[in-house]
Amino acid sequence: MPLRGMGVCRGNEVSAINIWDFWAKRYESLWVQKYSLAPTRRLVIDELKELTAGSVSGRKLSLLDVGCGTGQLLAEVSAGLRGSFDFLTGVDTSSQMLMAAEQKAIPAARFCLGGAEDLPFADSQFDVVSCCHSFPYYRDKLRALAEMRRVLKPGSYLLIVSASENNLYDKFIMRLVKLTTGKASYPSATRMAEMLQAAGCRVAAQKKLKVKFYMPSIILTIAKAEMGL
Ligand SMILES: C[S@@+](CC[C@H](N)C(=O)[O-])C[C@H]1O[C@@H](n2cnc3c(N)ncnc32)[C@H](O)[C@@H]1O
Repeated sequence: MPLRGMGVCRGNEVSAINIWDFWAKRYESLWVQKYSLAPTRRLVIDELKELTAGSVSGRKLSLLDVGCGTGQLLAEVSAGLRGSFDFLTGVDTSSQMLMAAEQKAIPAARFCLGGAEDLPFADSQFDVVSCCHSFPYYRDKLRALAEMRRVLKPGSYLLIVSASENNLYDKFIMRLVKLTTGKASYPSATRMAEMLQAAGCRVAAQKKLKVKFYMPSIILTIAKAEMGL
C-alpha cells in the first residue's frame, strides 16, 4: 500500500535494511510501551499543554515528531490537544513504522519518509519539534540536532526524550536493550545539554521520567531554539 505524501517527503537517510521495519507490526504490544513509551508520551503531552497554554488563541501551531514510529504521539496530541496543533508531521526512516502510522488516519497529520540527519523540510517551519526514544539511533547526533534546530522557528521549542546513560546501572541495562535494536548510544543528560548548545539551542529544563525504580534513566530535555541563527 503506498504511503500518502511519500513522494514529496522522501529524505536521503533511508537504508534498505531497517530493524524498525521488523519491529513495526509488534511495536505497540511491546512491554516497553507500559513503563517507558506510554509514560513518555504523557510527559511530552503535559509539556506541550504548558507550552501552548500561553499561545495566542486562534494561532495555528505546527508540530514535527522526528523518529515518529507508528504515530502514537501524534495520535494522542490530535486527541488530547485538539485546537492547539493544527499541523502534525511525523518523519521516520522506517517505511513499515510509517505504514502503521498512516493506518491510524490521524486528523491533520502527514507522515514522511526521511532521516533526522537530513530532514526533508524547509527552514523555520515548525512551532515545536519532538523526538522520543529515537535520538540514540542517529549516527550523526550533532547533525540531527542542527537539523531539528534548522526547521524550528527561532524562539520555538525542541522536546527530546531518550534513555540516557548517567551511571553504571544505566550502562548495564542499555547494553541489554541494544541487543534488540542494534547500534545505539545514549548520551548522558550533561552531554545532551552540551550538544544542544552546540546546535544553537538553550536548554530550558531537564526532567527525569519516574515510573519504576528498575528502569534506566529516561530524560526529557526541553530546549529553546536561539533567535537569529
Ligand atoms: C524506539 S522507536 C521510537 C518511536 C516513537 N518515537 C516512540 O516514542 O514510540 C525509534 C524510531 O526511530 C526511528 N529512527 C531510527 N533512526 C532514525 C533516523 N536516523 N531518522 C529518523 N528516524 C529514525 C526508527 O525507525 C523508529 O521508528
